[in-house]
Amino acid sequence: MKFETANFLSVAWEAGAAAGTLIREHWQKPKSIDYKGAIDLVTSVDRECERRIVEVLRNHFPNHSILAEEETDWVGTQSHHRWIIDPLDGTTNFAHSYPQFCVSIALECDGEVILGLVYDPLRGECFKAVKGEGATLNGGSIRISGVKELDKALLATGFPYDQRERADFYLSFFKAFMTRSQGIRRNGSAALDLCYVACGRVDGFWELKLRPWDTAAGALIVEEAGGKLSDLSGNRFSIWGEETLASNGAIHDEMVNAALAATVPRNSLTQS
Ligand code: IPD
Ligand code: CA
Ligand code: CA
Repeated sequence: MKFETANFLSVAWEAGAAAGTLIREHWQKPKSIDYKGAIDLVTSVDRECERRIVEVLRNHFPNHSILAEEETDWVGTQSHHRWIIDPLDGTTNFAHSYPQFCVSIALECDGEVILGLVYDPLRGECFKAVKGEGATLNGGSIRISGVKELDKALLATGFPYDQRERADFYLSFFKAFMTRSQGIRRNGSAALDLCYVACGRVDGFWELKLRPWDTAAGALIVEEAGGKLSDLSGNRFSIWGEETLASNGAIHDEMVNAALAATVPRNSLTQS
């Protein structure tokens, strides 16, 4: 690994660990909660995690750009590098003291994600990937599962914050996968869901309307662990797009076909 990349990774870890410590200290305490939407929460810990991460990154890389979920959209004077951060992925879980959430930090260079780190502070699990150099969990190399058929697959998914308004649309995908797989888990942290694809705990994952901070780190970790990403029609995946389908590769086409069999029309995705 180049010295510069190793430095990026060690600073990402310093930032992620600072946020992780705060999350660990607070997860079982009463939370101060604001509402961004009817069911879209943000806690004071989300915001404080973001401040701590941004502070560490700015100390080390004052010229880099930073895009983070809650408060930060900073364009640095050196425009090649941009950090993309979800300070606390799994806020609804965190707010309920349900133990499944993480910190997600990615680094883009000229628009390409080159590094990803996802840290689960309760389990002490840190997933990392560097473009072209593989993916790790706590330093050990990870690979996607060897499951060959959707029929034998365990899947994960999540629902966007407009789930009340568009329940039929999202449930049509759920039904399509439910009737073709061994089971589906809804764990509440998309970044961890992607990492679970990467290390073979689940064989595939889909979700609609994720944001770049949900997927930037996890998608690279999946790719570097040998997995595959696309949209729900099998087209090229983008962290800026509205559809995420991640798998171990072997079941990818079957997952695309299942998604295409969902019965509620796809154009309802763009209706408000
Ligand atoms: C959410 C989580 C959840 C997913 C939502 C995301 P947040 O992120 O990743 O699993 O289903 O779509 O928005 O709001 O907890 O950072
Ligand atoms: Ca998130
Ligand atoms: Ca978040």
